Amino acid sequence: MLKLSVIGAGTMGIGIAQVAATAGWDVVIHDINNDTLEKSSVSLGKVMNRLVEKEKINQATADKILERINFTEDRQYFEDSDLVIEAIVENMEIKKKVFEAIEKSVRKDTIIASNTSSLSLASIGSFLENPSRFIGIHFFNPAPLMPLVEIIPAMQTAEETTRQAKDWLNSWNKLTVLAKDTPGFIVNRVARPFYGESLRIYEENIADFATIDWAMKELGGFRMGPFELMDFIGNDINYVVTETVFQSFFYDSRYRPSFTQKRMVEAGFLGRKSGQGYYDYSEGANKPESIRDEKLGNKILYRTLVMLINEAADALFLNIASREDIDTAMTKGVNYPKGLLKWADEKGIGWCVEKLDGLYEEYREDRYRCSPLLRRMNKGGNTFY
Ligand code: NAI
Repeated sequence: MLKLSVIGAGTMGIGIAQVAATAGWDVVIHDINNDTLEKSSVSLGKVMNRLVEKEKINQATADKILERINFTEDRQYFEDSDLVIEAIVENMEIKKKVFEAIEKSVRKDTIIASNTSSLSLASIGSFLENPSRFIGIHFFNPAPLMPLVEIIPAMQTAEETTRQAKDWLNSWNKLTVLAKDTPGFIVNRVARPFYGESLRIYEENIADFATIDWAMKELGGFRMGPFELMDFIGNDINYVVTETVFQSFFYDSRYRPSFTQKRMVEAGFLGRKSGQGYYDYSEGANKPESIRDEKLGNKILYRTLVMLINEAADALFLNIASREDIDTAMTKGVNYPKGLLKWADEKGIGWCVEKLDGLYEEYREDRYRCSPLLRRMNKGGNTFY
């Protein structure tokens, strides 16, 4: 039987352990914090009970999955792992120590992976003596429910490592996409304007939170509006991701964070978890009414959409991932109603270029520059598909 070791029994680690054990792997999950290990073990038991109650799996299967997962404070159990996935705090210094220790405690051919969302894999790989066996395997939260996994080879990664990681993840019932080791990979890069442009629209006083959310959901078909989603993710988390992406892109204005969100974080308005974010989540609070004006709604939707399309086109232009993988990443990693490149074809490449140039003309900000790929395609009369 194949064996996975997971380091870090937090939100992601425990989800990854469940995914692998469900696919029949033996799993060891390690954390430095014994309380976390105990809590995670209890919560995994509850998750399994719920799956049995909902008749998604039977009791015998649930028992087998739980039997396959061992919780330990002791790293020596990593010894005969085929794969190790690190899912500890997002801190380079701490990761460095952990990766140096992992390599000493596993076989020479064990594949070693990181679930990092925002750190460079080339940097993490450099902590290993043999980085050719190292790779990024990026899950989405909650790992057992989200079908997408981004596979990110570092500069040092061997092709065989990438192939093996992809095969294993597919055997765990995950849809894999291949992304270049660049900030935000595919999803967290391409999705920036969903938040950023919405915040900008709000800051320009074009519409309030509720109206923007209404437009994106009702007219755009997105499952959640940007403000609802930021409240759900937590403004502190979402802000830090935006800030990290902005810094990592050498301060490209396209990724500039917003003062509105910064002030929300400073005020402690973190979203659902603090009871107050863009919306009030206290008991009995009324949700503000949106202005259901279709003309205004389309203005909001199309401005945000064209910025998302531009980001997706630029990711393709810069060879971050393939056309298919960019569309799969956004529909399966963040539930977009349609792939953005497919959406671009539907709206028309000419429409996209005209809309972006219109924004650029109006604001004269680099943020609104049209991707050279869209411009080139428009000239050639081409489509993505
Ligand atoms: P978390 O805070 O829930 O869990 C981290 C766990 O690591 C904690 O239980 C902590 O005790 C443990 N830990 C810290 N230092 C350790 C060490 N030296 N050895 C062993 N265990 C140690 O964090 P979360 O949210 O699960 O994130 C983990 C990683 O996954 C991060 O790199 C994050 O960027 C990434 N990620 C997070 C996603 C999310 O939505 N939360 C989505 C995708 C990736």
